[in-house]
Amino acid sequence: MRYRAVHFMAGLCALSLLFFIGCEGPAGPQGPQGDKGQNGQNILTAYNLEGFKDSIQCAMCHNADTDTTYRVAAKELQYEASVHGSGAEFSQNGNTCAGCHTNEGFYERYSRGFSNETFTLNAPSGPMCYQNYPDATRPGCFTCHAPHKRGNFTVRDSTAVNIFTLVGGQTASVWNSTVSSNLCVKCHQPRMTSTPFTSSPKSWQPDPSKTQATDTAKIYTARWNNHVSGEPTQTLLGTGGVEIAGNLSYTDSYHATLIKNGTLGCPDCHMATVKSGNQNGGHTFAVRYLAEGSTSPSYNVNGCNVTGCHPGLAASGTDAHWGMRATIIAKIAELGKLMMDTTITQKWSLPQSGKAVPWVTVTTSTVIGDSSWAANASTTNPLVITPAFKAGALWNLQQVQYEKSHGMHNYKYVLALLQNSIDELRK
Ligand code: HEC
Ligand code: HEC
Ligand code: HEC
Ligand code: HEC
Ligand code: HEC
Repeated sequence: MRYRAVHFMAGLCALSLLFFIGCEGPAGPQGPQGDKGQNGQNILTAYNLEGFKDSIQCAMCHNADTDTTYRVAAKELQYEASVHGSGAEFSQNGNTCAGCHTNEGFYERYSRGFSNETFTLNAPSGPMCYQNYPDATRPGCFTCHAPHKRGNFTVRDSTAVNIFTLVGGQTASVWNSTVSSNLCVKCHQPRMTSTPFTSSPKSWQPDPSKTQATDTAKIYTARWNNHVSGEPTQTLLGTGGVEIAGNLSYTDSYHATLIKNGTLGCPDCHMATVKSGNQNGGHTFAVRYLAEGSTSPSYNVNGCNVTGCHPGLAASGTDAHWGMRATIIAKIAELGKLMMDTTITQKWSLPQSGKAVPWVTVTTSTVIGDSSWAANASTTNPLVITPAFKAGALWNLQQVQYEKSHGMHNYKYVLALLQNSIDELRK
């Protein structure tokens, strides 16, 4: 905190010299336009070149004594405790990554217009920047808001987002829910630039309709999945998994209905009223959190606990909601164990060096829901699965793992993915 205070004062001095006149007096004539960068891009950073709104009062936000509206100081404290605030992997600053991992890259996408982002299977496309950002900063207040330019904390962008899918036969969905959730999914969407299908050799694209004995899936990478960033969003929309036919139908929980009618978004649950301290709710974006000094998770269910949703929901326990979560954790472990059981996997895949192989490796010692699963595949040792659609079980395990809510985002869809995958492998 001391670092920030010193940094802020230095910046404030420099900026007040630059902007003092702009803040107090009439605006001067407009200066010449800056040079255009390569490919017609304007290279701006979110901080300085957006300017200040006329007659903005700095103390509204920069003096905790007078800031009783925004409570910026408290938001900063919460933000420091968030995964975003701890860096959001901002070292991922190349042109295919910076658009979501850095403040500067996100601002470039914003300047260019999110609606111009398109996706082509097998080509680098989607949420990309045109340049790398070696001098990047983490996403911060100015990534999501434009407080200086607007003089308030409205979200920077709230347009709808196409959510693509890598599963054959599925079409893109549209996320168009609450204003602020449309901002979240600008980054929390599948990243389509370095997919398993653009690398060489290309892995099989999952497709539940490939059920013939002649349909073979070849998987060449341990990261045969949606690449971590978009699974919660897809799950909330009831898409993104390999929908293997089975006993459970692919229906959605009521969360998906509320999202599709525009009344529920990520912040409703992830930015709920803070319980206490700076570890949960608000700008920590955390539902699950570690309370100060504790090593087991606690939950902020203030977002669930509202009229019309789950009034009276306990923050832990064994009621129907927590019971469903426990069921899903158990199903994840069951599916993972099946794929590590070579008496099962040998029925559906080719041996490697004469030996039956497990389909997944697990990176923690215990086989529990929170284990990290990866496909047991590489360019030299691909997994070869027949009939191909059974490989969907492997896709689904990872889809659910990276959905990260233990089914709470959309338990009906998640349960169907898991149960039908389990039943299919047991055949
Ligand atoms: C509507 C709220 C708001 C107003 C009004 C506002 N700012 Fe800011 N300003 C912010 C926020 C939020 C940050 C980012 C703080 C952070 O990163 O933690 C910021 C950051 C800054 C920084 C950079 C500090 C750093 O840590 O790098 C400077 C300098 C600054 N503001 C100057 C000003 C000046 C000068 C004015 C008045 C002309 C002003 N601000 C008015 C919200 C505001
Ligand atoms: C500028 C892009 C961007 C925006 C906008 C954004 N996020 Fe994130 N978010 C990220 C990145 C990148 C990470 C991963 C950071 C890491 O793993 O270090 C992340 C991480 C998270 C996490 C923690 C994940 C974990 O594994 O614990 C949550 C929760 C989250 N974001 C929620 C939200 C919500 C809610 C919103 C909208 C209010 C939002 N994010 C908007 C980029 C963004
Ligand atoms: C569409 C936006 C987007 C793009 C583009 C993107 N990421 Fe991410 N990335 C995210 C989000 C959001 C998360 C956090 C997801 C979560 O926790 O649910 C994340 C998480 C991560 C993580 C930490 C989590 C983990 O388990 O792997 C790494 C590492 C990462 N990304 C690397 C990259 C790299 C490397 C690139 C470029 C090749 C990249 N990302 C491109 C949005 C993006
Ligand atoms: C990842 C995106 C994101 C980042 C980063 C972010 N915010 Fe926000 N902020 C939001 C969203 C979304 C809302 C609206 C919340 C809602 O709909 O309940 C919001 C609301 C606010 C509000 C008004 C509502 C309230 O809670 O009083 C303030 C003030 C605010 N943010 C300040 C900040 C400050 C200061 C920072 C930097 C420390 C920051 N924000 C960083 C997404 C973000
Ligand atoms: C209906 C409430 C709800 C909505 C809406 C929701 N989430 Fe969640 N999310 C949860 C709950 C509850 C958990 C924690 C479950 C657990 O720990 O078992 C969670 C967990 C997560 C996690 C894992 C990290 C963490 O904090 O535990 C990420 C990442 C995440 N959600 C992202 C999102 C994104 C992105 C959106 C919007 C596209 C979203 N969520 C919308 C309830 C919600």
